[in-house]
Formats: sequence, structure tokens, C-alpha cells
Amino acid sequence: MKIAILGGTGSIGEGLALRWAVKHEVFVGSRKLEKALASTDKYRKILEESGDTCTITGCVNPDAVDRADVVVLSVPYEHVSSTIETIKPYLRDQIIISIVVPMKKNGHFLYAPPESGCAAMEIQGLLPEGVKLVSAFHNVSAKKLADINNKLDMDVFICGDNEEANNVVSDLVKDIPGLNPMMAGPLEVSCMVESITPLLVNLAKFTKKKHLGIKSV
Ligand SMILES: NC(=O)c1ccc[n+]([C@@H]2O[C@H](COP(=O)([O-])OP(=O)(O)OC[C@H]3O[C@@H](n4cnc5c(N)ncnc54)[C@H](OP(=O)(O)O)[C@@H]3O)[C@@H](O)[C@H]2O)c1
Repeated sequence: MKIAILGGTGSIGEGLALRWAVKHEVFVGSRKLEKALASTDKYRKILEESGDTCTITGCVNPDAVDRADVVVLSVPYEHVSSTIETIKPYLRDQIIISIVVPMKKNGHFLYAPPESGCAAMEIQGLLPEGVKLVSAFHNVSAKKLADINNKLDMDVFICGDNEEANNVVSDLVKDIPGLNPMMAGPLEVSCMVESITPLLVNLAKFTKKKHLGIKSV
């Protein structure tokens, strides 16, 4: 599968790229080609040093979208709308994955959803009609994901209105060893999943347990 990671140069973009590039064709997207290429070189080196072969290419965000079957929106909430504007002409039948969590910080973190209820519902409204959006990966720690020697053991809650797209994302979750996909409901349920992330960050801060994730038992 061809996967574009927009903002793939960032914290969680790195982990997703490293974990998927051993099995899929990954396009690391950025606003700047040089930055995408620098990240790609870094990721390729990490994987090659651990003996893995990978398929990974650096591009500007619109090129990454144009070449992909699946597009991950991996930019901070504040910049999602402007990022979507730049990729709109390249959206056809790709599946879009939102991992976006709107949060604000005031000593501790709080979930700060937009009027539409959550980032995913807002993003749905920004995308052209018919584009399939799935919400996932919000509660996965970027640090743990990017440490390819770290054995993961967490659930990934998936929300979406299109069963076929949900299944594609579920398979992409399974392609990362140690991540377990769990369907959480339609897209509007994403508000609950997104809101877990600031809780995890606060728990990490106040209990000194770093990079927490979710595992349902
Ligand atoms: N970090 C985590 O543990 C984690 C976990 C789950 C979900 N998330 C969600 O994943 C998303 C990315 O998080 P992150 O921690 O990886 O963020 P980040 O490292 O701060 O930023 C990711 C990328 O966003 C791009 N970006 C920055 N400013 C931008 C702007 N003005 N316009 C367009 N793109 C811009 C940058 O790419 P270029 O400069 O290369 O364009 C940057 O590398 C967020 O929505 C976050 O809520 C994060």
C-alpha cells in the first residue's frame, strides 16, 4: 500500500514512517522538500542499521498525497485546515486518517475540541464530499512508536463511517507489531478517543510514567 504521511517529519510521523516503511511504500510529506528528504535519509539509515529494507520517499505534502492510497494527517490541529487546502486538488479516492488531537496547555493538558465536537468531525467538513475519513492512532506515544527496538503492546481505537476504509486502517494497525486495532464506532465517537490523549499526557506528567498508551483488559 502507498501511504503518505503529511507532517511525516514530526514526532509521530517519524514513528509511523519507520514502522510502515518495512512493509509498505511510504511517502514522507513536508511543506519543504529539503526537510522531507532529510527526514527520509534519517529514517532510511535507522532502518538499514537494524537490518531492515524499506521503501521510503520524501516529498512535499501535495506530491505525497498524489502518489498515495492512504493519507495520514500528522500535523498539529492548528495547521490542519491550511494543510488540507494545499492537498485538495490531489484528493481522489484516497483514505484519509486523522490522528489529530486538539489540546491546550495550562500547567496541565486539556482536550480543546472545536464546535463540531472533535477534530475528526471538523476535518470531515473540510474535506471534499465523498472522501473517506478514519480517525485512529490518537493514543499512541510518538516516542514509543519511533523506537523501533521497543516492543509495543497497545490498543488503537478506530472511528469511522465507512466500513471498507475502517478495515483498511485496521489492517494498517495490525501491520505494526504490538498494536491491536479496536473499532470504537462512527466518526463522531472520535471526540472520546481524542480526549484520552491529554489524559495520558497528564497521567505521564503526574505519575512520572513516561509515554503511556491504552490497553483494554
Ligand atoms: N506526538 C504524539 O505523541 C502524538 C500522538 C498521537 C497523535 N498526535 C497528533 O499527531 C499530530 C502530529 O503531532 P506531532 O507531535 O508529530 O507534531 P509536530 O512534531 O509538532 O509536527 C508535525 C509536523 O507538522 C508540520 N507543521 C508544523 N507547523 C505547520 C504549519 N504551520 N503548517 C503545516 N504543517 C506544519 C511539520 O512538518 P513540516 O515542517 O515538515 O511541514 C511538523 O514536522 C498532531 O495533530 C497530534 O495531535 C501526536
